[in-house]
Amino acid sequence: MKFFIDTANLEEIKEAHSLGILDGVTTNPSLMAKAGIKGRENILKHYKKIADIVPGDVSAEVISTDFDGMIKEAMELAEIAPNIVIKIPMIKEGLKAIKYLSDQGIKTNCTLVFSSGQALLAAKAGATYVSPFIGRLDDISSEGMQLIADIRLIYDNYAYETKILAASIRHPMHIIESARIGADVVTTPLKPLLSLLNHPLTDKGLAKFLEDYRKSQE
Ligand code: G3P
Repeated sequence: MKFFIDTANLEEIKEAHSLGILDGVTTNPSLMAKAGIKGRENILKHYKKIADIVPGDVSAEVISTDFDGMIKEAMELAEIAPNIVIKIPMIKEGLKAIKYLSDQGIKTNCTLVFSSGQALLAAKAGATYVSPFIGRLDDISSEGMQLIADIRLIYDNYAYETKILAASIRHPMHIIESARIGADVVTTPLKPLLSLLNHPLTDKGLAKFLEDYRKSQE
């Protein structure tokens, strides 16, 4: 399973990259705003900075909602770096744009996916990635993880090559459950990623090893 980090914060991206296990980055307009990046030019420059840090795929989201606007933006974003992936919302115009871009060999990430029907359409259009939002489904008393399982089943039935990118991750169990089901990628904020490291028996065991070593040196 690939690990992407879901943030536009350069320090967090650098920290995750320093672990040696980071495969890519996803962003969205809200994450850009949270990182304090304002103005179109600064946003484009920021994508370049992210793409320079991480050699893997970096999702950059369009803000147009019409086909022509999405394609114009996609071309501009794709120019930034070879590892930029165009993130496009699952709406009718977005579906057309994904099909167009995938026919041109430009990588896409179909975002804001909340149903297996939407995921099926994304795969038919040739999306490189589909992003089901687990946490936001959980938030409305739906089972986010069940959506990942349903999409996995559907994609395997037809050997679709679209990668399932589990998004809207809120805690480490979302990552572990996604791995159990067979999501191709998980995109996570830094905190749930670092939480995977933790186990009290690791801390206890290490403290004992270090104590015994110290005693052996007395
Ligand atoms: O990648 C999509 C993700 O950023 C959405 O996460 O926490 O805003 O639901 P969240």
